[in-house]
Amino acid sequence: MEEYAKTHTVLENANALARSRLSEKRYGHTMRVADTAGDLARVHSLDEGRTRLAALLHDAARESRPEEFLELADEWRLPVGEPERQSPKLLHGPVAAELARRQLGVDDEEVLEAIRAHTTGKPGMGPLALALYVADKIEPARDYPSVERLRTLARQDLHAAATEALRRAIAHNEERGKDVHPASLETLDWLEADRTPQERVEQ
Ligand SMILES: [Fe+2]
Ligand SMILES: [Fe+2]
Repeated sequence: MEEYAKTHTVLENANALARSRLSEKRYGHTMRVADTAGDLARVHSLDEGRTRLAALLHDAARESRPEEFLELADEWRLPVGEPERQSPKLLHGPVAAELARRQLGVDDEEVLEAIRAHTTGKPGMGPLALALYVADKIEPARDYPSVERLRTLARQDLHAAATEALRRAIAHNEERGKDVHPASLETLDWLEADRTPQERVEQ
């Protein structure tokens, strides 16, 4: 099948899967993240179709029950650490990636990685995953003091926006007395270290 037609069909299937599994409210969020991620993809010369695909699927498993997450993770041999045992909904990214693979035949590793990593981040995550991570945090219904600044930054510098968004997510968790997932701390370290050489060159 022609590449465009293939992408088009898989986008329709992803949309249908999200709609069938999500409440009106979360489906609305999904659509807004898809539009925001698509916009960031265009601005940063990423593949818009594949970025939209990851966005359409990112929260597809979000409304499963805690036991379901653990059962599916066990059945599909997904890594489950102590944070995931404590808070099984942390698995909604990895479980959604598996649904995408198993139910829609998505085998694009960058798309799957973006879906998997969208909750905690992952060191080494690629541009498509960064675009989804940021889009999830700045879609038009998001409302917090720094969101406008983050929206502007996201169109200028995806890496800087992801760093900022992750810092904010970590601070937000800490303020609420919630444990911060080790992957988030590792990702922040990676983002900060990854940028340093380039900034040195620019100075
Ligand atoms: Fe999510
Ligand atoms: Fe989301």
